[in-house]
Formats: sequence, structure tokens, C-alpha cells
Amino acid sequence: MNIRNAHPADLMNMQHCNLLCLPENYQMKYYFYHGLSWPQLSYVAEDAKGNIVGYVLAKMEEDPDEATHGHITSLAVKRSHRRLGLARKLMDHASRAMVECFKAKYVSLHVRVSNRAALRLYAETLKFEQSEVEPKYYADGEDAYAMKRDLTKLLEEVPKPSRFYIPYREKKSMPIEEVDELHQDNELIEDTHERGVDVLVEENLANKLGSASIST
Ligand SMILES: CC(C)(COP(=O)(O)OP(=O)(O)OC[C@H]1O[C@@H](n2cnc3c(N)ncnc32)[C@H](O)[C@@H]1OP(=O)(O)O)[C@@H](O)C(=O)NCCC(=O)NCCS
Repeated sequence: MNIRNAHPADLMNMQHCNLLCLPENYQMKYYFYHGLSWPQLSYVAEDAKGNIVGYVLAKMEEDPDEATHGHITSLAVKRSHRRLGLARKLMDHASRAMVECFKAKYVSLHVRVSNRAALRLYAETLKFEQSEVEPKYYADGEDAYAMKRDLTKLLEEVPKPSRFYIPYREKKSMPIEEVDELHQDNELIEDTHERGVDVLVEENLANKLGSASIST
């Protein structure tokens, strides 16, 4: 059994697995929306022959008023392959990718109040906490538990990229100005990692606007 990042070619098989396992189904374009917008976050479990036996479809929430967080849109494992730890692994892979790629602080999901298997997986195995009950969340009128899993511990564990050094031989063959430029690039990469690309873009714009107003 293998867990790997989902590719566009997997989306049809993920939809098939979803249709077999869950009453919440989605149009193909919704799978593509996930695959194209957050290709890092969805995973599949495949058997020895490469058949998809489980999937997790995940995304980032884009509400600027909330802390950065991911959301599990759908999770299922085919009956023939349950209780092998696949759902736990799929969820762990998606959560880690949310942290590594987007610095997610937590991951959220909805689950039917009657879904005992999923509730045990989320609450006991994965340590999700129930945040509220959403009445009549599902099309058939069933309530959902909204659940969250704190990912800040995982965020602390994510290694920062180490400083990138240019090998001596390369340096020697390069004009000194180019080496200096590369050093500046390295500092920018570190700065970007620590402070976030948005902050740097804003600062850069502010600097440019500042110098423009001085020169006029
Ligand atoms: C819920 C589901 C995804 C679990 O998949 P799975 O691969 O069998 O889960 P795992 O093997 O990773 O189980 C991890 C833990 O979850 C809990 N769990 C999983 N299935 C369970 C069940 N049928 N009954 C009770 N607990 C269960 C157990 O604590 C289990 O650990 P254990 O096997 O050591 O006891 C699967 O049953 C499924 O696809 N169900 C239909 C679709 C669905 O409900 N999806 C979730 C929608 S929110």
C-alpha cells in the first residue's frame, strides 16, 4: 500500500471512490478546482497494482479574518481496505502539506453526528476537537460536528531551509559582482521564509512609492 500526492489523472478514480463510499458527491470540476488550486494537499492511497483505494481531498480556506487554515473536503477509504491505518496516514500527509506549504495553524472539517467510525478516527486517533454543531448541515437534514485540529506543534517542527552556499570552485570562476548578487539572493530567500512573501512585497512597494514621491 502506498500513499502519494494526488495527480490530475487520479481525480476520476477519487470521484469513483467517493461515489462508492459517501453520500456527499461532487462534480468533476470541484475535484479539478482542488487539484489546480492546491495541488500539494490532496493524497491517494493505492494498492500494489496502482488502484486507488482511498483519498483525501483538501484545500486551504481563504477567509482573511481567520487564522490561516486548511479544510478537509472529503475523505474515504474503500471497504476492502479499511482498518489498515490508511485514513490516518492520508490525513497526516494532507495536514503536514498544509503546514509546510501554507503555514496552516489548524485544519477543519465537518462530520455527520452519526458517523461513528469517522468520529473515532478524528477525535481519538487524530486529536481533532469538536468546535460546534451545525444544525441540518447535510442535504438530508442531518447535523454536522465542525471539528478542528491544532497544527501549531507541527508548524514548529517544520525545518527551515538551511543557508545555501555556493561551492568554492563556482565562486572562483564567477565575477565577484555575480557572487555578491547571489549572496543577496540567499538573504532574500531567508528573509522571505521568515517574514512571508506578502510582507516583503508590501515593503518593496512602499519603498518604491516612497522614492517615487521624493523624486517628484
Ligand atoms: C472513516 C474512514 C475514512 C476510516 O478509514 P480507515 O482507513 O478504515 O481508518 P484507519 O484504519 O486509519 O483507522 C484509524 C482509527 O480510526 C478509528 N476507526 C476507523 N474505522 C472505525 C470503525 N469502523 N469503527 C470504530 N473506529 C474506527 C479507529 O480508532 C482506528 O484505529 P484502530 O484501527 O487502531 O482501532 C472509512 O471508514 C470510510 O471511508 N468511511 C466512509 C466514508 C466516510 O465516512 N468518510 C468520512 C467523512 S467525514
